[in-house]
Amino acid sequence: MLNKYKIVKDIPRMLRNFSCSKHLRSEELFVHRDSKDNNPSTPFEFTEANMTRLCAIIQNYPEGCQRSALSAALDIVQRQIGWIPISAMHKVAEILSMPRMRVYEWATFYTMNKRRFRGKFNVKVCVTTPCMLRGSDIILQAVEEATCCCAGSLSADGMFGVDTVQCQGACANAPVIAVDDDYYEDVNVCDVYNIIQTLKCGGIPPWGPQNGRFAAEPITGQTSLCECPPPPGFGIQPDLLQASTPKPGK
Ligand code: FES
Repeated sequence: MLNKYKIVKDIPRMLRNFSCSKHLRSEELFVHRDSKDNNPSTPFEFTEANMTRLCAIIQNYPEGCQRSALSAALDIVQRQIGWIPISAMHKVAEILSMPRMRVYEWATFYTMNKRRFRGKFNVKVCVTTPCMLRGSDIILQAVEEATCCCAGSLSADGMFGVDTVQCQGACANAPVIAVDDDYYEDVNVCDVYNIIQTLKCGGIPPWGPQNGRFAAEPITGQTSLCECPPPPGFGIQPDLLQASTPKPGK
């Protein structure tokens, strides 16, 4: 009896704290509910230039496979008006002769599809492990303060929409924030304020690593791959090299 009590008493000591990134509610990801600004009657038409662009993309695919242009079509919608209302999804389904449900599936699966207006500048803060270990919590806090906007919402003037996102594929330059298509890497709190301030003033902040290094190279300069690469044929057996050399007159 005494042993049993001892085991139960020791259990709390074996539990460890853990933390996890903020989770999005499933409703945010998958469910559409008609609203004043986003319903099947929301006006949407492709501009002439974008329609021409879309037709050119569709022609890249064989007859009957025009639905392969779905991703490009939704991207064009998003670049035209900044987000993808459900009426635009219907328009795309009509142009590509495919069921609306297939378009919904695509639009809800890929998180880069914005199904609500996310501001003139959509600031995305990466919160996955490498960025988290490099201080993404503090970066997120700085972004929220600089834009006066909490993650998941819009600033009062509609200029900024802040979102937390998962790995942006630039972990070697963590922590990373992205503003629309541009990546700002190796950011610190000061960089965040500068970037947001430049955007507010109508400027374009220089994208890429903010600490002065080139791409993902070490900040102290390259330590490998410093020589010129060997020429074609390097390391191939001499016999094979001879056999593959074209004979004169052939
Ligand atoms: S974890 Fe942030 S870019 Fe990969």
